[in-house]
Amino acid sequence: MNTANNTQAIKSVSNVITRESARQMSNDQLVKLLDLKNPVIEDIVYGDPRWSEMEEVDAGEVFYPHVPKGVIKVLRPKHRHPKCIKANPSYIPQRDVLRPLLAWWCANTRKLSMFMFGETGTGKTEMLLWFADRLNWPVTLTSVNESLRPEKVQGSYILYGDKTPYRYGSLAKAMKYGWVQIMDECDKGSGDLLSKLHTPAEYKPWELDDTGEIIEPHTNFRFCATGNTNGGGDMTGRYHTSQRLDEAFRRRFAFIECDYPSEAIEDSIISASYPSISKKTRHKMVKLAKEMRQALRAPQLEANALTPEELSKLQLPTERLSCAFSTRVLVAWADYMNIFGAKSVPIKESFDFVFGNSLDDDDRPAVMSICQRIFGESFNQPDEGDTNLGK
Ligand SMILES: Nc1ncnc2c1ncn2[C@@H]1O[C@H](COP(=O)(O)OP(=O)(O)OP(=O)(O)O)[C@@H](O)[C@H]1O
Ligand SMILES: [Mg+2]
Repeated sequence: MNTANNTQAIKSVSNVITRESARQMSNDQLVKLLDLKNPVIEDIVYGDPRWSEMEEVDAGEVFYPHVPKGVIKVLRPKHRHPKCIKANPSYIPQRDVLRPLLAWWCANTRKLSMFMFGETGTGKTEMLLWFADRLNWPVTLTSVNESLRPEKVQGSYILYGDKTPYRYGSLAKAMKYGWVQIMDECDKGSGDLLSKLHTPAEYKPWELDDTGEIIEPHTNFRFCATGNTNGGGDMTGRYHTSQRLDEAFRRRFAFIECDYPSEAIEDSIISASYPSISKKTRHKMVKLAKEMRQALRAPQLEANALTPEELSKLQLPTERLSCAFSTRVLVAWADYMNIFGAKSVPIKESFDFVFGNSLDDDDRPAVMSICQRIFGESFNQPDEGDTNLGK
């Protein structure tokens, strides 16, 4: 049966779909019903018990090679749900982030939600997506901003044919059906919205304003938030739209700080995705990223160093910067270097394209000085390749 006929057939039976008849369907048939965009049928599909069937698996297999095999068992949904999101295949998790996230996710009790914070481009959002993907966990990813209304996450009545059924919002669905809700950039939300999130964030039954229905949190429901600040407001001047979170909301979360990946991880990210970039250039790119970040954090690091020996150990660059050279920028640089032609176009061109051209006048001399120190004359030339057989 072709797709059009299939959809037609589904439409004609949509009036007689019940929870019982849905249970007899194959996964594909059930998922196809979502094409109808009928909130009532959507509830039947997402509420089907098969999505809550769990299997016990070795975390070492699921998170290979980042967790040792044979040590931890985890439960994961048995069936791949239509709300599962395929994650970035080149993502390499950081151990310091993976460990507490795994412990939190798999704990038997759920006292707190998860707040992942850190500078822009450190891989917070992708970490959560990568983790959920490996565990077959359905995801709902909501970009939070000042104008996001609570109705968007709770739900509202909609016009469907000649009826006005209630359609659950993203968070209501996640809570009811057992998905992970990622509130991306949560510290940018309005007070109105955030106060509505207090109840879901502590896994308490949530009453929907319009219908009065009380949503009990499903055991698979996970509430995660990301932000550039830890909810204490922006102290750096780089994240103007991040707000200080209400103390009561903040205390409903456990926090994981996501720093930029180590040089070794960033090197692996680039070598895996861009093997044509020479080892020599790759090392310099990663070193440059590290120095840019040190220049950004130097004032803070200096203030934290207790002795002159500690300070000299930090090997801080002399430059000071106010712009963040993130892993996102580093990966984009490698990407455009490749697109422009690594072996034919000067390295500086792709650098300027992804970063250099956006610099403030105050930062430009410091950035150029770091580039010169690390790349020297080769910055104005194409990647010359490795002279030996090293990759
Ligand atoms: N550990 C990693 N492995 C591979 N790629 C990474 C990693 N961390 C960051 N990246 C790269 O950086 C990009 C940005 O990651 P992500 O969107 O998760 O950052 P973020 O911390 O959520 O940033 P923001 O605060 O701006 O939302 C990714 O698309 C990927 O290219
Ligand atoms: Mg993000």
